[in-house]
Amino acid sequence: MNKFSVVVAGGGSTFTPGIVLMLLANQHRFPLRALKFYDNDGARQETIAEACKIILKEQAPDIEFSYTTDPKVAFTDVDFVMAHIRVGKYPMREKDEKIPLRHGVLGQETCGPGGIAYGMRSIGGVLEIADYMEQYSPNAWMLNYSNPAAIVAEATRRLRPAAKILNICDMPIGIESRMAQIAGLKDRKEMRVRYYGLNHFGWWTSIEDLQGNDLMPKIREYVAKFGYVPPSDEHGTEASWNDTFAKAKDVWALDPETFPNTYLKYYLFPDYVVEHSNPERTRANEVMDHREKHVFGSCNAIIQAGKSSAGELEIDEHASYIVDLATAIAFNTQERMLLIVPNNGAINNFDPEAMVEIPCLVGKSGPQPLVVGNIPQFQKGLMSQQVAVEKLVVDAWEQRSYQKLWQAITLSKTVPSASVAKAILDDLIEANKDYWPELK
Ligand code: NAD
Ligand code: G6P
Ligand code: MN
Repeated sequence: MNKFSVVVAGGGSTFTPGIVLMLLANQHRFPLRALKFYDNDGARQETIAEACKIILKEQAPDIEFSYTTDPKVAFTDVDFVMAHIRVGKYPMREKDEKIPLRHGVLGQETCGPGGIAYGMRSIGGVLEIADYMEQYSPNAWMLNYSNPAAIVAEATRRLRPAAKILNICDMPIGIESRMAQIAGLKDRKEMRVRYYGLNHFGWWTSIEDLQGNDLMPKIREYVAKFGYVPPSDEHGTEASWNDTFAKAKDVWALDPETFPNTYLKYYLFPDYVVEHSNPERTRANEVMDHREKHVFGSCNAIIQAGKSSAGELEIDEHASYIVDLATAIAFNTQERMLLIVPNNGAINNFDPEAMVEIPCLVGKSGPQPLVVGNIPQFQKGLMSQQVAVEKLVVDAWEQRSYQKLWQAITLSKTVPSASVAKAILDDLIEANKDYWPELK
């Protein structure tokens, strides 16, 4: 069997150890010859990398492992780039969340003005990674989950049209795991789904078991009462995420024939979200206090003891979809997966140039989207507004345009008026001056 060389871009990410453990658990179907980490923050990456080095030495000494901040070393001789960078790291996420809240608008990593601000930082960082790949390993594929994926995907479509980049999200499969549990199945892969939308903005229209039996009625009965909070929580979901899964009940009620992505709560119930936010302590603070401390604490413990049993790093179940995707491309499996791709007619009555999240068959030459057909007025209206926001952000980045960015924030369904949008924008410009292009 062929063996592959992978570089993880954003090696210092809190998700890197979980992905490494997932890659190790899948050596039988996606074998590695080399694994590299790349980050532009050498100190942050070193902690994660030194711990992973110990894990790899214990479990797979044959895989050649290294880490670097030198793009040439990182991107030379690779087959896959798995990218999960966060330009500005958590301190900037905290600002994305807190600045809009000061103006009475919700603050969220990928939605509303916070997501737009993050998009303006991410575009340059992700394009830089794509260009390193193009320069040093032009035949490689980039599997990108750097957020905000919708804006990043629009930017890569428009600005690097020939690049082999696939943008992906783990939210649908996280929700599908819950649906499978609700339906009494062991695994989400025992379901076949239809889904359409934009990233963090979509709906399931059909869920069947592998024999073709409709699972929607059973799941519907449950979601109507409990949202996506399953009968037993095996993974110890944090309270704030649990609220989001519970709120899916109200989001679902708007169109009971379908099941919504949890992120629609930010667009359909923004007033509720603001009321339930603490402007002094947002999700970024929770992540810094919990996941970041836990992952870096575990890595430091492993490094000190020189053995992996000293830490409590967990395999990232969600990362299995990244392995599925790499395997599908590497071995032409034609697996059916949800990906963020150019619409190109798949949703018949929607902008052919929009980046949409829909089922695709994935093989050696990339994704082949499946036909969705026509979508209803409600979804079409919401999606048209949101896709315009995403396109305007890329316009603003490309043209360095204050005007376009003001329009983007104004058009977001989370923002009440152009004057509020302007006030938020002016604060965001100040906060992002080290990261955004200068706007004219
Ligand atoms: P993190 O801050 O822990 O890690 C991000 C890393 O990226 C940091 O080590 C940082 O130094 C590095 N980085 C920043 N800019 C860079 C650049 N230009 N070049 C190289 N490295 C750079 O963040 P995290 O919480 O672990 O999340 C990582 C990313 O994954 C985020 O973008 C997050 O939104 C995304 N994510 C996406 C999904 C999805 O569904 N698509 C799921 C989970 C996480
Ligand atoms: C889900 C989404 C990601 C997002 C993450 C945030 O996994 O699909 O796009 O980045 O949630 O989680 P966090 O724990 O960092 O708030
Ligand atoms: Mn996502």
